[in-house]
Amino acid sequence: MKYDFDKVIERKGTGSTKWDLNEKLFGTDDVLDMWVADMDFPCPEPVVKAIQKRAEHPIYGYTYPSDDLNQAVVDKMKRDYDWEIEKDWIVYCTGIVSGVYSAVKSLTMPGDQIVVQPPVYYPFYNAIRDNGCHVVANNLKFDGERYEMDFDDLETKFKPKTTFPPSVPRIRGLILCHPHNPVGRVYKEEELKELADLCMEYNTPIISDEIHCDLLMKGVEHVPTAKISKEVEQFTMTFMSASKTFNIAGIPASVAVIPNPKWRAKFVAARAGQSGVSIFGLVALEAAFRHGKEYQEQLSEYLYENVMYFKDYIEKNIPKVKVVDPEGTYLAWVDMRGLGLSNEELREFMLKKARLALDCGFIFGPGGEGFQRFNLACPRAYVTEALERLEKAVKELE
Ligand SMILES: Cc1ncc(COP(=O)(O)O)c(C=O)c1O
Repeated sequence: MKYDFDKVIERKGTGSTKWDLNEKLFGTDDVLDMWVADMDFPCPEPVVKAIQKRAEHPIYGYTYPSDDLNQAVVDKMKRDYDWEIEKDWIVYCTGIVSGVYSAVKSLTMPGDQIVVQPPVYYPFYNAIRDNGCHVVANNLKFDGERYEMDFDDLETKFKPKTTFPPSVPRIRGLILCHPHNPVGRVYKEEELKELADLCMEYNTPIISDEIHCDLLMKGVEHVPTAKISKEVEQFTMTFMSASKTFNIAGIPASVAVIPNPKWRAKFVAARAGQSGVSIFGLVALEAAFRHGKEYQEQLSEYLYENVMYFKDYIEKNIPKVKVVDPEGTYLAWVDMRGLGLSNEELREFMLKKARLALDCGFIFGPGGEGFQRFNLACPRAYVTEALERLEKAVKELE
């Protein structure tokens, strides 16, 4: 079928985190919401039908992930990434954030350290700190156009600080965001290999959050970190889900793929006491992975056009503002340092003058100051409205 992503669907009044919390979070309802990362599009028809069918059976008791679901996950990994995984490697989690919390817990003791690569998805910091650990920031390098991982800095962070008395290494893992939220990088195989080689040399497991793996700009390919080699596979915990691509974040279901049996056992132990995935999460995940390809292809096309339109418009009409070229995700990372505003001024400017509810760059940690993150997974009419509001507000600043 042909999906109509141009169609505007009212979400206010549905308990939407994005649309219904404006007064509480921003102090005003007079904003266009382009912040939290879900989409203003209906999810794929096969997912809706699968949920409806299951809902018709009136008993919603405890439910386990079926072997058919395991097979759907295995098949998707092979079909989309040519990655051959075994069913035993899969552990189902509710959301990916909850999975990342458990991964950190399983690898650390309080006081240990975990590396992140800021500016990065802010719940990673919470996952580390809430487990009593410390954040080690291996900041991405930015040359004004493009972000790269800083391997020299990473090696410095990994190296023991003293030889005598010998310092005890406390770095127990690295959380990789690939594709990267918010900067939009989709790392190439060579970069992943260099990262993995370093991590293995310093015995640092990789927690690879690949939630945005299906959301790719034209010509960009996603390589799962664990696919680099059999050795890296044993060294990586991979997190994927259907929630971003198929817009089902409200019925959370995600997969951790952990080939290393020891780490998998520790991960499962770290999840003790947590509830399983809901019936509808399981059903939606299976339908999305099995039958979501047609939707995914049309969605990718639409998102690509949205991103290009957004970028071109800004280049032509708001030259003080610069969009970082995304390779993946539906998030635009926009450099607003040219406006000369402090973090707080920029936040106020966006809310009060441009009337846009966005994610402020500084919440993503070092390197995010002066940036704003726009969620472009919305009908084009919203993108146009946002651009016009932004252009007018910037002109009034001059
Ligand atoms: C990198 C990344 N990881 C995890 C999540 C959230 O995942 P979940 O809702 O499955 O916890 C997001 C949502 O924006 C994200 O961007």
